[in-house]
Amino acid sequence: MEKNAVTPWEVSGEIDYERIIKEFGVQRIDDSLLKRFEKIAGESHFMLRRGIYFAHRDLNWVLDQWEKENKFFLYTGRGPSGKMHIGHLLPFIFCKWIQETFGVELWIQFTDDEKFLFKQDMTLEEVQKNMKDNMIDVIALGFDHKKTHFLIDTKHAGIMYPEAIKVAKKITYSVIRSSFGLDESSNIGSIFYTSMQAVPAFLPSILKNKKMPCLIPHAIDQDPHFRLTRDILPKLGYPKPASIQSSFLPPLQGANGKMSSSREESAIFLTDSPKDVEMKIKKYAFSGGRDTLEEHRRHGGNPDVDVSFQYLKFMFESDDSELGKIYRKYKSGEMTSGELKQITINKINEFLKEHQKRRKTAEKQIDKFIYK
Ligand code: TYM
Repeated sequence: MEKNAVTPWEVSGEIDYERIIKEFGVQRIDDSLLKRFEKIAGESHFMLRRGIYFAHRDLNWVLDQWEKENKFFLYTGRGPSGKMHIGHLLPFIFCKWIQETFGVELWIQFTDDEKFLFKQDMTLEEVQKNMKDNMIDVIALGFDHKKTHFLIDTKHAGIMYPEAIKVAKKITYSVIRSSFGLDESSNIGSIFYTSMQAVPAFLPSILKNKKMPCLIPHAIDQDPHFRLTRDILPKLGYPKPASIQSSFLPPLQGANGKMSSSREESAIFLTDSPKDVEMKIKKYAFSGGRDTLEEHRRHGGNPDVDVSFQYLKFMFESDDSELGKIYRKYKSGEMTSGELKQITINKINEFLKEHQKRRKTAEKQIDKFIYK
């Protein structure tokens, strides 16, 4: 049987989100919170409505503060272990929407130290090359550089390290061992690392000389870092950061695990060509269809396990009524797997065409985004 694991460095096996909610101690985003969020934001986002962002810590508190005119800032990040796939965009797309809806600042951490320390076979130069490429992908989403700041762990060490050691002094090795599964064989940099991921949750408060609420959108794998951060920040005189967690965009092969850059055939990369996308969806995307066309027409398909449908739901079909139509047609057997796959291929390729066009001009803008 495949092992189930959800940690910042490993996601495998069948993911039981109900169990995760209990084990991690996050709260489910219920209807009343959803309604409150929508009322304050003035609109909703399909990732919230569809339960893709399904859990949170202290989101109500962030909204309370907002109503008292205490503006929050957003914090999210990327560990540049390789090229980015479509799943990595989820938190960035969501952050962009919150940023534009609430008019708030966004801090994005690039953890070149983390990936150097955790990837045994990678040099720092390789990680930093990936980082530049990843920055291009983030910028290509269309962020406003006046409100969006990149923090690079090795480059901004001058402002980050003094804060990281304050965090580190409050964490014992035994806590790291139980929170992250690290042990005596782990390198000492990896044991220290979580202190760096804690810093952007309060660094903007220091830089702006004002204690501000922090909201961190991320997929649930990153929660162990922020559970620790939340324990420590009040001891350093800062509020606990709030967070909002998404589920994982599935790998092409289906429900188990997450789309991962380390398995080339599991992922659609942001630099894939239209032909790559077509081949990957046709060849690998797990289908909820029946074995024969006749059976499919008679019994219908299962959109809930169909990877092409899941990609439309997570990212590529923002119109609820259009998605609902596809759901019903596929479930009734009126739409075949081949037709559903083609819709998904077209949607992904439309998105990537625009994204790849914007990538061409994004490189020149990197400098504007790096915090000075
Ligand atoms: P990283 O680079 O592994 O992932 C970047 C962000 O993408 C999310 N993610 C996914 N979301 C949906 N579906 C998937 N298949 C999928 N795979 C990854 C991750 O949860 C993450 O939000 N240590 C972090 C970098 C980091 C960070 C942060 C992330 C530093 N500070 C603050 C979030 C918030 C990392 O290696 O993420």
